[in-house]
Amino acid sequence: MPRPIRKAVFPVAGLGTRFLPATKAIPKEMLTIVDRPVIQYVVDEARAAGIEHFVFVTGRNKSVIEDHFDNQIELEMALAERGKDDALSALRSELPPAGATSYTRQQAPLGLGHAVWCAREIVGDEPFALLLPDMVGQAETGCLSQMMAAYEKHGGNVIAVEETTAEQVHRYGIVGVGEKDETGFEITEMVEKPDRDNAPSNFYISGRYILQPEIFGILEHQASGADGEIQITDAMIGLAQSQRFTGVRFDGRTFDCGSKAGFLAANVAFALARPDIAPDFRAELDKIIGAVAATRNKAAE
Ligand code: G1P
Repeated sequence: MPRPIRKAVFPVAGLGTRFLPATKAIPKEMLTIVDRPVIQYVVDEARAAGIEHFVFVTGRNKSVIEDHFDNQIELEMALAERGKDDALSALRSELPPAGATSYTRQQAPLGLGHAVWCAREIVGDEPFALLLPDMVGQAETGCLSQMMAAYEKHGGNVIAVEETTAEQVHRYGIVGVGEKDETGFEITEMVEKPDRDNAPSNFYISGRYILQPEIFGILEHQASGADGEIQITDAMIGLAQSQRFTGVRFDGRTFDCGSKAGFLAANVAFALARPDIAPDFRAELDKIIGAVAATRNKAAE
C-alpha cells in the first residue's frame, strides 16, 4: 500500500488580473459559482477524497480566504436566534476542523512551481495532493477521488488529464501516453505549453496532482521555464527520471475558472445541477436564449 495522502496544497497567491475590477479587493478564489466561492468547491473535492489537512499558499490581499475557512461566531449566533437551523448546520459541516488548515505566503510571483515549493515545510516528507483552484470539476465522483484508485495501484505520482484540441495545447501542460490499465496510463513525456507541432498528445494536465515529496528538492533548484516562471511541470519532468507518473483521464467536466468564459459556464452548469435553483434558472435562460435568437433572426431578415 502506498503512503496515504493526508495533505492538500492550494496555490491561491495569483493576482487575478483577468477579472479586474472584480478582483481589486476580493481574491479571485472568492468569486462565486452560484452561491459558493470557487475555492470552496475545490476544498470540498479534497475533503471528499479523504484529505485531512489543507495548506493554502497565499499572498497579499488574500486573508479573506483564511476568514472564510474560520468560524464566524456572530453569524452563527444570528442564525441560531432566527431559527435558521439548516443554514447553521451547513455552515458548521463545511468548516475544516480546528488545526486542519495552514497558510503560508508566496511573497513573490515566481510561478506555480515556486508556490508549491513554499509549502514544503508544512507538507514535510510525505506525498500530497495539489489542486489548482482555477480548475473546478463537475462530476459525480470528484477528480481527486478518481485519482486515488490509480495511486493505490501504482503509488508514485498521479496527474489528472483531459482532452483538448490541437489549437489549445499551447495553454497547458501536455502529457505523452504510454501503457494503459484499468486505472490510467503511464505518462511517457510532459511538456509545459508546447506549440501544436511539439505536443505529444491532446491530453492536458487539468490541475489535479498527487506528488511525492522529492518534488520539493527538485523545485529548490528549478530554473524558470515557460513564461519566465518556475514551472511545476518542469520539476515533474525531473522527478519522472526516477519515479513513475500515472495519468488519469477525469470522468467529468472541468471548468477553467481562470477565464471569463469558463467561469460563466461553471455558473450555468452548477446552477442547472442545483434542484433548488434549476427550474427558475432554466426558465430565465430560455428567455435570454429566445431573445438572442429573435434579435439574430431579425438582423438576418
Ligand atoms: C498550470 C500548469 C499547467 C496546467 C494548467 C491547468 O498552468 O502549469 O501544466 O495544464 O495549470 O490549468 P497555468 O494555468 O498556471 O498557466
